[in-house]
Amino acid sequence: MSHRIAVIGGDGIGPEVVAEALKVARATGVDLDTVEYDLGGARYLRDGTILPDEVLEELRGFDAILLGAVGTPGVPPGVIERGLLLTIRFALDQYINQRPFVLPERDIDMIVIRENTEGSYAGEGGFLRHGTPHEIATQGSVNTRMGVERCIRYSFELARSRERKHLTLVHKTNVLTFAGDLWQRTFDIVAAEYPDVGTAYNHVDAACIHFVQDPARFDVVVTDNLFGDILTDLGGAVSGGIGFAASGNLNPDRVAPSLFEPVHGSAPDIAGTGTANPIAAVLSTAMLLDFLGETGAAERIRAACAKAGDTASMSTTAIGDHVAGLL
Ligand code: IPM
Ligand code: MN
Repeated sequence: MSHRIAVIGGDGIGPEVVAEALKVARATGVDLDTVEYDLGGARYLRDGTILPDEVLEELRGFDAILLGAVGTPGVPPGVIERGLLLTIRFALDQYINQRPFVLPERDIDMIVIRENTEGSYAGEGGFLRHGTPHEIATQGSVNTRMGVERCIRYSFELARSRERKHLTLVHKTNVLTFAGDLWQRTFDIVAAEYPDVGTAYNHVDAACIHFVQDPARFDVVVTDNLFGDILTDLGGAVSGGIGFAASGNLNPDRVAPSLFEPVHGSAPDIAGTGTANPIAAVLSTAMLLDFLGETGAAERIRAACAKAGDTASMSTTAIGDHVAGLL
């Protein structure tokens, strides 16, 4: 059976790492029918296009989306991030951002679940008296009971399926007494349905210390959109480097396609030098295959990445060839 995949290479090193990820995925023998979309900062600078409505509608028809990275110097911050990536996450209701971190040498085997459609990312707020000395800027955090509950419930289900069966809620309930209270109350209510899952709570600042000093303590972590964004860069940094961190923006109800992408950005400073590490994109593609039921191929890709050894001195394409050869 062939899987229809929309491919958005994007900017900077995005297209380079995605090419290697597809090379490795195809080497498993899985049949991928890909359609490439030229979207991102470079396209925007060329003709002003960000994400036409008809392209967004077309994306709904795919089994999954693979994205490299977005971000181009010269494009004001937020234009592509909000106009392309966040628009896709929100429109396709990819409410789970799943980011696994594995480093056997340090006993790290955790998954961070980041709420992906609300919080400070929702776009609530605005300016008053813009550009004047009395200017006011607000940017609220939107937390709905439905949005928080579905994210927490997904996390409990995931924790239940794992060996350690443990879930940590990360927030800042001691200061964010409205949003934090909603998260904590919802967490406690849902927890009662999962007596077999152990639970813990960390304030986000303390969680940062544990991520650095004792990451092995975590199994599944659930948190809001912005805390999850920050914590998962840290998760990457302590588990081998951001060049290895994969992610899935999931629509668990499967009413729209999910999007898979490395956690890292477009790294314009090294674009075109052939030095980008494609492993994060390769592992993101393994997550994509898992989600589409190709669990055997996904497992083989993860095993090949684990066997790849030190690839730091290898070029982007050499790493792709090497991992494909280890399958
Ligand atoms: C990520 C990225 C994005 C985010 C940016 C590019 C909008 O940092 O996926 O972690 O903040 O979610
Ligand atoms: Mn991020």
